[in-house]
Order: sequence, then C-alpha cells, then structure tokens
Amino acid sequence: MPDPWPRSARWTPAGLEVGGLAAADLAERFGTPLLVIDEADMRERMQAMAALFPRVAYAVKAMTCAAVVRAALEEGLDLLCASGGEVATCLRAGVPASRILLHGNAKTDDELAGAVDAGLAAVIVDDAEELDRLAAIARAAAASQPILLRVTPDVDVATHEAIATGHAASKFGVPLAHAPDVARRAAATAGIRFLGLHAHAGSQVLDVDAHVRVVRALLGVATDAEIRPAVLDVGGGFGVTYADETPPDLATVAAALRNELDARGVDADLRVEPGRAIVANPGLTLYRVLARKRAGGRDLVAVDGGMSDNLRPALYDARHRVTAVENANSPTQPVTVVGRHCESGDVVAEDVALPVGLARGDLLAVATTGAYTYPLASAYNRFGRPAVVGVRDGVATLWIRREDVDDMDRLDVILGTPWEVGTLPAAEGGART
Ligand code: LLP
Repeated sequence: MPDPWPRSARWTPAGLEVGGLAAADLAERFGTPLLVIDEADMRERMQAMAALFPRVAYAVKAMTCAAVVRAALEEGLDLLCASGGEVATCLRAGVPASRILLHGNAKTDDELAGAVDAGLAAVIVDDAEELDRLAAIARAAAASQPILLRVTPDVDVATHEAIATGHAASKFGVPLAHAPDVARRAAATAGIRFLGLHAHAGSQVLDVDAHVRVVRALLGVATDAEIRPAVLDVGGGFGVTYADETPPDLATVAAALRNELDARGVDADLRVEPGRAIVANPGLTLYRVLARKRAGGRDLVAVDGGMSDNLRPALYDARHRVTAVENANSPTQPVTVVGRHCESGDVVAEDVALPVGLARGDLLAVATTGAYTYPLASAYNRFGRPAVVGVRDGVATLWIRREDVDDMDRLDVILGTPWEVGTLPAAEGGART
C-alpha cells in the first residue's frame, strides 16, 4: 500500500517520530491540534519537481506561509498565487515579483493594478474582458504586462467534482471554442506581452495522461490561432496518497509531456504548478483524544480539533490515514474519529483501525494534512487555527503560532466599545438604539 506519511516518520517502541523528534514531545511543547511539516521531505519534493520539469511554480494556496514560500524560492521554484492577498504575502516574505504569477477566475481592478505595479512575472488572464481591463491598466501605467491566457481545456479527469476545473462547463478560463480568437487578440494588444497558454484540468488527479491531454488541447488552440506560444503551462493537480491512492509517477508524466512536444516539433517553455504534491504528504496533524463513546453500533473517538483545522473530509469526502502516536502496534478495533465542532459532518476519519485501549489524553496522528488544511482553516466555534511547526534533523521551528481568542476578537470592532445592555454603539451618521 502506498505510504502517505512524511519520509522521516518512524514508529519506534517509544512512539511516532517525525523529523527526528518524538511526536509526543512536539504535542507537549506546541500543543494540539498541531500541523507538523517535515521540511526535508517538502524540499526533496520541490527539488524533484525542479529536476523533472523545465519550469515549476509552487501553488501557494496549498500551504500559505513564509517558511514554505521561501523554501520554494530557495529550491528554484516560482510562486503561483490565486489572489492579491497571496501575492502580498509572497512579496512580504521576500519573493521578487519576477518570480510570482497571479491567476484567478475573477480578479479585481486592484489585483490587476497591483500585479502591474509590482511587475509580476505573469498574470494568467481568465477571459477576454479581463484582458481588456488589464491592458488598459497596464497602458495607463506605461507598462507592458506579461500574460498567459487560461484556456478551459475540455479535459475530464477523475477527481472530486468540487476540484475538477478542466471540463467544458468550468468557471475557469476561456472556453476552447473562443480561445484561439482571444489568444490572437492578446498577442496583438498594446499593454500586453503575450507569453503563452495555460490550463489546469483539476486537482488530486491520479491519471498519468491528464497533463498530456491538456498540452494537446493547448497546442490545438495555438494551431487554430496560428501563434507560437513561448510558454505552455499545463497546471498542477498531481494526486497524492491519502488512504491508498497510487500517485502518478512524475517522471513518466514529465517524459510523456516532453515526447508530446518533441513529436510535434514544439519548442515552448513547459510549466507545471504543483501544490499538493509538494506539501500534502510531508504534513501530519497531531490531535489529543478528548472523549470516547459508543453510539449506534459505532465506536467514536473525539479529538481536540476537526473541521476548523481540516475541512477536507467534510468538503471532499477525503479519507485520511490515522495512527496512534503511542502503542501503534497494539491490537486494534475499528473506530470513527470525530472532531469537537457542533456539526455531525465534523468527521476526521471514518472507520479506521486504532488501538483498543485508546483513551482520553492519548495522541493521534493524521496523515497527508500538509496541503489545503491550514489555508482552509476557520475560526468556527472559536477554537482558533492550529500552530504549524517545521521539523528537520531533530529541530522544530514554529512556522505559524496558534491562533487564540484574542487574535479572533481583534477583528470584532464592537467588542472593544463601551456598552450598556440594550444599546448598540453609535453608528456612523447617527445613533441607533
Ligand atoms: N494551478 C491552478 C490554476 C490551480 O487552480 C490549482 C489548484 C493548482 C495549480 C494546484 O493544484 P494542486 O497541485 O495543489 O492539486 N482545496 C482543494 C484543492 C483546490 C485546488 C484549487 N486549485 C482540496 O483540498 O483538495
């Protein structure tokens, strides 16, 4: 069965270790829930991507924090941002604008102007209207903004419907039928420097040929438009192991893409944009058991987190592997691990094998939580988002501190104002009672 755990994970008689540190010590020191990221594993995956593909942009949305963004930069990757906010975080983290790309199906004028002002490497333009808006903004700034044009490739992939993006009815990109026209126009628009074409078929894709089908769609657009794109960006989406999925072999994908371009005599800069394949498996989440009960024939184990630190089971029916941190090899029984949110859908892992004697205070580790957990985390029920630590060679570094109630309440401007029962503070333009 494929292994979902960080490469440094070891089960010793004393319990689970990661990054050369005992998971129990990490939980003790930083508290739980705790997102632990094996930094060496994450960097190895970045290096492997950089070695296999000519250009790689790390999809910042998968795990958004300075430590990961800086590691990606250090390992030679560019940064793919999904919003002006992600761009701002990358710039603040010290990433040069020339290494940042911005995509998104509905960008604001502020985001486009920010991209032009900063001098981003490329804006991935999503439709003809956005092209005109960006061109006007760039011309007003006496700039010429490099762009890729996002195409809906009409490539169906087997993944959860919420993360399939390449089908004909997708909200992302220019429909295939119009793409040649828009590409031709982009190449001839003042204020725009047309670099090439982009598509992303979906996320958590296990098919080996999905990206080849995408590149074929892009080459079809180029032929119809009679243009020679300098860049062909085939998106991210490489699937990973959560429960027992076999990920696509990236060397095979890279070779197939190269062969496809060679066979057609295309000399374009090939780009990929992985997020999950870089950070998902290096991450695990530590939880402490808070309660146990038997209900409706099921054994339930409730932990001290849940859908506020990992929305993936609720949102995409994700099935994560779980282990006890201590006594992992003792006899097991099937249990369902639930969170402590006020929702029945707050399930961490359904029907997993955990030690029979698992009790309040014990620690659990959940695999494959490095991607799309923290960035989707919420303040629901005011538990606060977890802390994030990077571990490597026996050293743990706090990457993001735990969010507390003060952090959350800081945004509530009414909380800080004087109040008598029955009276709301004066609203702008007159008192309201
Ligand atoms: N490029 C584009 C244009 C994207 O939209 C995405 C992800 C990526 C690259 C990176 O995809 P990755 O290699 O990480 O699969 N929250 C969902 C995933 C949403 C993905 C959105 N786009 C989840 O937890 O599965």
